[in-house]
Amino acid sequence: MFESLQTLPADAILGLIAEHANDPRPEKIDLGVGVYRTAEGQTPVLSSVKKAERRLLETQTSKAYLGTAGAPDFNAVMQTLTFADSAPPERLVTLQSAGGSGALRVAAGLILRAREGAKVWVSEPTWANHVPLLGGAGLDLTPYPYYDSERHVLEVDRMLEALRAIPRGDVILFHACCHNPSGLDPGEDEWRAITEIVVERELMPFIDMAYQGFATGIDEDAFVIRHMAERVPEMVVCNSCSKNFGLYRDRVGTISVLCGDASAVKVLASNASNYVRTLYSMPPDHGAAVVSIILDDPGLKAEWLGEVADMRERVNEMSELFSGKLAERAPDHDFSHLVRTRGMFCFLGISAEQVGRLKKDFGVYMVDSSRINVAGITPANVDYLADSIAAIL
Ligand code: LMR
Repeated sequence: MFESLQTLPADAILGLIAEHANDPRPEKIDLGVGVYRTAEGQTPVLSSVKKAERRLLETQTSKAYLGTAGAPDFNAVMQTLTFADSAPPERLVTLQSAGGSGALRVAAGLILRAREGAKVWVSEPTWANHVPLLGGAGLDLTPYPYYDSERHVLEVDRMLEALRAIPRGDVILFHACCHNPSGLDPGEDEWRAITEIVVERELMPFIDMAYQGFATGIDEDAFVIRHMAERVPEMVVCNSCSKNFGLYRDRVGTISVLCGDASAVKVLASNASNYVRTLYSMPPDHGAAVVSIILDDPGLKAEWLGEVADMRERVNEMSELFSGKLAERAPDHDFSHLVRTRGMFCFLGISAEQVGRLKKDFGVYMVDSSRINVAGITPANVDYLADSIAAIL
């Protein structure tokens, strides 16, 4: 039976993990997949996470099934971290999910159950896996303008104009912060202008927040979610704890749905539960239990917030250092946009052919679009990196 299948190309992002690992050159640099790295190039388990894991080991008394929605205490703390007091809890449903991707997949299924053939507008560009993940689930995706790849700025006017023309009632996907792949987010005034159109056109916001804490801070990065939650009847929010808790492989996230009224909550929750049961039955527990312990304990929470701030600051410092080195090595090229971006990603702005040469000749790995993970840059590799880029320009 399976001989009818064809080998597929490796995933545009995840494929780079193995390619980099198999490269024997000691000077190689991985700017591919979005994982945080220290100045030593490590992706450590956060200290707050280690402490919570120890506590979990000592206190957990059962691993019996929890059910399709996961752990209620985890869902409650994540709901607060996301919405604060912007939405009435009686209108919210939150389910633990298998990472941010699991949340997106459940969201896609629920949207399609509610509206067959649902159309979702996505920024151009968007996360490379949004299209196969959401499109593969059956959603009809259409791009809206977002990033000007010539000037490396947000195309706010074109975006607003396009949003005004979206058919009433359609779904629109936003990145809450640290837009992946461009690293450019609307400012608060721009989010307000976007929200006015969302309200006026009765669009349903579908917000992906995979980097809460990596742009400015935990509360600041949730601005658009909280601002919209006070103004729209319905919205969907997908969270990931992969980056801000460093729990990548443990697969921790949530999907939250803001319902039009409290009576719709019961219907939505029953559909979400039924849908999850048909998909993966229930989410993994360990990472979510760790997050609950951290967010429930003021001391651990403060430690975690400090760790998130350290990660954010290191990435910002590397953007500045790298942009300065490129200005020295390639004075005829403008890389000043690198310091305007937030979070792990930005576009270098070079061609796929130049990306290929960086990989082949210098062992520098990045996505073909020239998206780089700035967290892969360290004080020790930045000179080699800037020299390599100058050589292929
Ligand atoms: C990325 O964009 O590199 C991360 O979100 C990891 C992934 O799953 O693609």
